[in-house]
Amino acid sequence: MDTITVSGLKKYFRVFKRREGLIPTFSSLFKRKYFEVKAVDDISFTIQEGELVGFIGPNGAGKTTTLKCLSGLLFPSEGLVNVLGFKPFERKNQFLKSISLVMGQKNQLWWDLPAVESFRLNKEIYELDEEIYQKNLRELSELLEVGSLINQPVRSLSLGSRMKMELIAALIHHPKVLFLDEPTIGLDIVMQKKMRDFIGNYNKKYKSTILLTSHYMADVKELCRRIIIINRGKLIYDGHLDKLSQKYSHHKIITAQFDNSVDIQKLSQMGEIKSVIDKKVILHIKKVNARQAAVTLLEKFKVSDINITEPEIEDIISIIFEGKAHA
Ligand SMILES: Nc1ncnc2c1ncn2[C@@H]1O[C@H](COP(=O)(O)OP(=O)(O)OP(=O)(O)O)[C@@H](O)[C@H]1O
Ligand SMILES: [Mg+2]
Repeated sequence: MDTITVSGLKKYFRVFKRREGLIPTFSSLFKRKYFEVKAVDDISFTIQEGELVGFIGPNGAGKTTTLKCLSGLLFPSEGLVNVLGFKPFERKNQFLKSISLVMGQKNQLWWDLPAVESFRLNKEIYELDEEIYQKNLRELSELLEVGSLINQPVRSLSLGSRMKMELIAALIHHPKVLFLDEPTIGLDIVMQKKMRDFIGNYNKKYKSTILLTSHYMADVKELCRRIIIINRGKLIYDGHLDKLSQKYSHHKIITAQFDNSVDIQKLSQMGEIKSVIDKKVILHIKKVNARQAAVTLLEKFKVSDINITEPEIEDIISIIFEGKAHA
């Protein structure tokens, strides 16, 4: 059985229009006009046990809404959602004990108390034995290197330390399924990397199933083989991260360092010139022509260095986000 099944999921929000004019008439209260925001608009996918899938899309794409439907915080407008055999919105105890949702933008811990107090509360909520709680807390604290910070009021912690505490609180009951909504947002590069390593190790060690959203491509590149891309509530891509460039990018990048100054006119016949700095030229060349172009460059020009690369994943993703690509 799939760990997560999403089939034809839709979540529409009704947003009421503000009435113009100063005082709305009494009758208008009953005839308020509204429009619908199609936050999630018919998406389907399945995720197997132990997968770590990147869930990406531009602002407002519908990622958080989907994660909320999957963790039972929102009731779907239409479609089927199944997580570990449960319908999330029923919020059965056994379901809640098996999942966790971490939102990087939201503080879920008691602000004025040490984080350990929030962990204790979760221990009670999840009905953990003292022994298991202590063992899990010890393991997580070591993995995240938090030391005695768990005894300091949360408000006194740096953002990075706070995020570590959020993760411990969310993982103290070892959920089988973990929804991570921008867990690295706002963190510096070193802390982002630590979080990333932790998430990767945690996934491997406990075989937990993880759905991760992030606007930082480094997170996705390092952690996820499979990605799901959504835009405007629709699923755009579901597959290997590596295959993305095959599907959406039709050019290769040739970077050539010339010995002498070069006739740009001639080069522009081969492909699109992206930059010229000193004697270094970057060209975008259609994939089918890339090999021949490299040969021509080496034969007809004095080239001291040449390099052929695929476009960066970031560039391909931004083409997709801008809506220039469709499923
Ligand atoms: N409670 C709500 N009421 C009305 N509209 C909503 C509500 N929640 C979300 N939306 C709208 O639904 C759309 C999807 O929002 P969502 O938060 O799921 O996007 P997202 O992909 O998580 O974006 P971001 O990357 O900015 O976090 C947006 O247009 C948003 O304004
Ligand atoms: Mg979001």
